[in-house]
Amino acid sequence: MSPSIVLPLEEMHLKNLPPGRQCCIVAPCSLAKQLDRQILSRGEQERLCRFRRKEDFDRYLTAHSLLRVILGQILGRCARDITFVDGEGNKPLLSDGSCHFNLSHSGDWVAIIVSLDGPVGIDVEQALPGKAQISPDLYAHPNDRFHPAAAGTDISRFFTAWTLKEAISKCDGRGLGIPFNEVRLEPDKGNTYRGFYDCRTWHASHWILDDGTHLAHAGEVPCSTLNIIVAG
Ligand SMILES: CC(C)(COP(=O)(O)OP(=O)(O)OC[C@H]1O[C@@H](n2cnc3c(N)ncnc32)[C@H](O)[C@@H]1OP(=O)(O)O)[C@@H](O)C(=O)NCCC(=O)NCCS
Repeated sequence: MSPSIVLPLEEMHLKNLPPGRQCCIVAPCSLAKQLDRQILSRGEQERLCRFRRKEDFDRYLTAHSLLRVILGQILGRCARDITFVDGEGNKPLLSDGSCHFNLSHSGDWVAIIVSLDGPVGIDVEQALPGKAQISPDLYAHPNDRFHPAAAGTDISRFFTAWTLKEAISKCDGRGLGIPFNEVRLEPDKGNTYRGFYDCRTWHASHWILDDGTHLAHAGEVPCSTLNIIVAG
């Protein structure tokens, strides 16, 4: 995984992001007990109350409360007053467009990316057995290439390709409406990739967390990323 800072929530004090720098925050769903559900909008609280299983409740609370905390810190605003609108494919956006963000959740993890440098997308996938059974015809481009660390096994190649392509599709906003088998991946420096589809290029990064969870984020321009793992 790329260099990252591990911080307890109370020590996370994000400030304005300079241009060319984006912030990726990863948190376990066990953080839910430290987060205040009252900062959620009425609609978010109603959605939260509809979850029957504790793990779904905690995942949603962690994702949406932490997103408000992060945006509140970066934008210098009250977390509760942040408002969202739906963009293309129902991609959530800030109503005033003051910065770009995206979130993803899977199993025990939530991941959030924030940038001032254009749209971003993120995908986290806990590598549970069975998930990798999707046919390569659906997600693999014949000319996909990988860094050696990701290319070892079919499962590793699946999660690497899937998270990178889903992050690209979420950056775009069309999500699974983009045919992943037409997105071509090419390794770039370090843990980064370039993705090509529809005469466009995306710049993406891929990590594997210590428990084997895969995570990728993508943007339209290359950015350096501050990686933060919030301690649960
Ligand atoms: C976006 C999408 C790829 C998410 O897939 P997923 O693996 O289930 O979910 P993830 O955990 O990675 O991401 C979910 C989050 O992405 C965000 N999101 C939703 N739609 C999005 C979109 N079109 N683009 C980017 N991000 C999106 C939301 O914040 C969502 O969080 P929430 O469900 O807690 O509100 C999938 O829902 C999709 O393809 N949507 C396509 C758009 C669509 O069908 N629109 C219908 C009307 S055109």
